Amino acid sequence: MRSHLLNDTTAEQYRRSVTDGVERVAAKIATTERPFTGVTVDALAPAIDAIDLDKPLHDTAAVLDELEDVYLRDAVYFHHPRYLAHLNCPVVIPAVLGEAVLSAVNSSLDTWDQSAGGTLIERKLIDWTTERIGLGPAADGVFTSGGTQSNLQALLLAREESKTDSLAKLRIFASEVSHFSVKKSAKLLGLGQDSVVSIPVDYDKRMQTVALARELERCKQDGLVPMAVVATAGTTDFGSIDPLPEIAELCEQFATWMHVDAAYGCGLLASLKHRDRLNGIERADSVTVDYHKSFFQPVSSSAVLVRDAATLRHATYHAEYLNPRRMVQERIPNQVDKSLQTTRRFDALKLWMTLRTMGADGIGQLFDEVCELAREGWKLLAADPRFDVVVEPSLSTLVFRYIPASVTDPAEIDRANLYARKALFASGDAIVAGTKVGARHYLKFTLLNPETQASDIAAVLDLIAGHAEQYLGESLDRAS
Ligand SMILES: Cc1ncc(COP(=O)(O)O)c(C=O)c1O
Repeated sequence: MRSHLLNDTTAEQYRRSVTDGVERVAAKIATTERPFTGVTVDALAPAIDAIDLDKPLHDTAAVLDELEDVYLRDAVYFHHPRYLAHLNCPVVIPAVLGEAVLSAVNSSLDTWDQSAGGTLIERKLIDWTTERIGLGPAADGVFTSGGTQSNLQALLLAREESKTDSLAKLRIFASEVSHFSVKKSAKLLGLGQDSVVSIPVDYDKRMQTVALARELERCKQDGLVPMAVVATAGTTDFGSIDPLPEIAELCEQFATWMHVDAAYGCGLLASLKHRDRLNGIERADSVTVDYHKSFFQPVSSSAVLVRDAATLRHATYHAEYLNPRRMVQERIPNQVDKSLQTTRRFDALKLWMTLRTMGADGIGQLFDEVCELAREGWKLLAADPRFDVVVEPSLSTLVFRYIPASVTDPAEIDRANLYARKALFASGDAIVAGTKVGARHYLKFTLLNPETQASDIAAVLDLIAGHAEQYLGESLDRAS
């Protein structure tokens, strides 16, 4: 069994095993014709159930053959140009190389004595990001597992900085289309059920600052404490960017923590064309960025950044075995002092490899391309009488629905769109997402693949129309 341990005596076996795995994945990626096979849970589950985990195969080739059947064949492939569903990007090769290196070396970024150079690399990337945001000389931050954790940590710091005697009095303000991790964080932070005040959005799905001002005022008059405003720079469905400068003004006026959830919109930090859309982000107290959404990084890769490094102390705990207090005086950089996690992956390495190979402009160029693609998609949709499209894209999503010429009942139109999404998924020809706008069901493209062409969008729209019409035809048959 020792032959499976990665060490000086097994380096050759490591090279062969990993190369075999890479060959399989490369072959798969090179020949994937559709983003998905359309396999159902019922069809796939028996193959996985049948595997006896107490009877190992011992042979890497046999394990890879089995993996083909239980995973690789039916995985959902984000690199395919017709994967248009969620906020998953195709990944850049330097980052995948980083992933291979970081898992083999297996540094843990909690303490210097488990990572050495890794700690300094992460710190440099944090500084690079805070500089791009413009958070100022006292800024800092830490890598996290994703936007959910980044938002949680930011709101934890905001809660601690609010210095209130009663958690029940704290209020967080976020737009009605902000990410649900804000509400989840509020719950985890022990705030009351009514703690998240939902602020309406305008026609373009951006927070209405007049309504925010009114709610902040009301909060004060009711003797409550405005703990934080969460501005979203790139909402999950619409990619809309809340008016950051106006929100910053209000946060200053009401002495409230400003958090910017730029999990999606952070790609603009590298943009060559649209960086100005993030203007005002530099006034935030904290910012969430998900490199695994718009920097073309493999999951996971995210960070929370703060204007004032001192606020990170709210996540600091010391243990004699790990990061004793004296290490602070000795100036030993232990990233665990800033993090909600203890053992932590060296995800920063992926971004490092990316920037060192492609440069930030390379990432920005790819992100600009998907934003441009979304504009082309919007023009297609706006000119197509078969579809209703909700807002012009600020980033790279499109929310729309099929509107059949023959049907006026909105509930039947809902059903046709729901059916079309499911049928498309089952066919594996393309994958799109769905959401609701008001009470109505819509479909969504999240465009994060520069390889997707306008012609792919047009083809997928035709497929959607075909499936929806099929549903409506069958529904007529059922009624007659
Ligand atoms: C705006 C926004 N914030 C936060 C998140 C949560 O990020 P993660 O899935 O990385 O936890 C998402 C995920 O889609 C998001 O769109």
